[in-house]
Amino acid sequence: MTTASDSSSTPSINRRDFVRTAAAVAAVGAAPYVARGRVLSANDRIGIGFIGCGHRASAHMKSLEWLQTQQKLAIEAVAFSDMYRPRMEQRRDAINKQAKTYHDYRELLADPAVDIVCIATPDHHHAPQAIAALKAGKHVYVEKPITHWRQFKLLKELNETASQSKALLQCGTQGMSCSAWRQARKLITDGAIGQPIHAEAGYFRVGDWGERGMHVDDPNAKPGPDLNWDEFLGDSPKREFSVDRVFRWRLFEDYAGGPVTDLYPHCFTPVVYMLGVKCPSTVVASGGIYRYPYELREVPDSFNLLIDYPEKITVAVLGTQGNNHPGTGPAPSGSVGRAPVIRGWDGTITFTPKEVVLTPTQGSKTKPATFPVESREDLVSFWKSFLDAVRAGQGPTASPMDLAYHTQTALIMGMLAYRAQKTAKFDAQKQEIVI
Ligand SMILES: NC(=O)c1ccc[n+]([C@@H]2O[C@H](COP(=O)([O-])OP(=O)(O)OC[C@H]3O[C@@H](n4cnc5c(N)ncnc54)[C@H](O)[C@@H]3O)[C@@H](O)[C@H]2O)c1
Repeated sequence: MTTASDSSSTPSINRRDFVRTAAAVAAVGAAPYVARGRVLSANDRIGIGFIGCGHRASAHMKSLEWLQTQQKLAIEAVAFSDMYRPRMEQRRDAINKQAKTYHDYRELLADPAVDIVCIATPDHHHAPQAIAALKAGKHVYVEKPITHWRQFKLLKELNETASQSKALLQCGTQGMSCSAWRQARKLITDGAIGQPIHAEAGYFRVGDWGERGMHVDDPNAKPGPDLNWDEFLGDSPKREFSVDRVFRWRLFEDYAGGPVTDLYPHCFTPVVYMLGVKCPSTVVASGGIYRYPYELREVPDSFNLLIDYPEKITVAVLGTQGNNHPGTGPAPSGSVGRAPVIRGWDGTITFTPKEVVLTPTQGSKTKPATFPVESREDLVSFWKSFLDAVRAGQGPTASPMDLAYHTQTALIMGMLAYRAQKTAKFDAQKQEIVI
């Protein structure tokens, strides 16, 4: 299924792929992320509550339904919450008529039947809702981007809250379920390319279906008992009610950021993971509204970042919504856009949809080699690995909070640099962005 924005996976894998992918996700232990959580026995039912019942949430609901009915996992969708009542009720009716509905998500967080909260609301709600959920003792699956671009303070608060919580968090970058990144990370830490120096990632596509084309359920919708406008606004600037803001929120800077926050968490997260870098030293950015300059659109459709790290590594993240040629070719993981390139002093790692390719630089002792990708991206396996971690009460999850913190810090710096037309710097001592 293609959702309004970036790619998503339907539960359409065969059993062999599923077992391989699940095993590969479980092997993510190479990452230095540690989490703790409550231990559930194999037979305890895990209750899942959904905050945000829009398009992305429906992909999660279908994946979980598949795990429940086909894999016989002891899980159940027990609660649904949305500030727009019709969506909440439609999803409840489609998935589990016995489940509870809560117009206010805080009531869902108070429901003891909910063990895991799946947050798929517009970007500016992710951090406040994830923080509230962790504080309520719930495990959290939260969609990317982990925060809105103006919420760096909240990003730090969420990182802090997650590190102190017994509950687990997984960020919704499902491309991290692909084994290629772990295979490449191992090559890098084993020294196969020597000192990393440069990397490229990118996301190229054509179309504005994810912004202007978002589905407007009811053009006559108004604030009232069915639609809580203040709840939609959250911590964003106060505005007059507008149907476009509610249903086509990706057009507006108050709630979204364009490709840098919508698409680049997918292509950039694996690069941060493979390189093992943390916060950048500087970020510069360019871009603009180059192809879709219509009235309501505020967010750019073309966006480029140059991110430098204290380890003397540059990462270029490039993209436009005006041309979809993949350049370096498609990545092994569907949601990641085009294949990344990792360059070191002694060699280079590239990817095809099926292989991790190691190419030595001239004169280096490294031998050329290719490694079959053990498992491709899969949303069902990504969920399964999270459920396993929750049941075991132990992380790391396949896309943990530390990784999301470092990824999102660079992307926020990019958006701030673009808006100010300046270089964004990072003060590592104070963990602050300086612009
Ligand atoms: N990982 C992926 O591949 C992927 C794909 C698509 C979307 N997403 C992410 O999922 C999120 C949701 O995107 P979508 O396409 O489903 O949008 P959507 O507009 O279809 O759904 C968002 C839902 O949240 C509800 N909502 C808004 N404010 C709320 C609040 N305060 N409390 C409760 N509900 C609230 C809306 O009424 C709506 O039903 C976005 O952040 C997006 O980046 C991720």
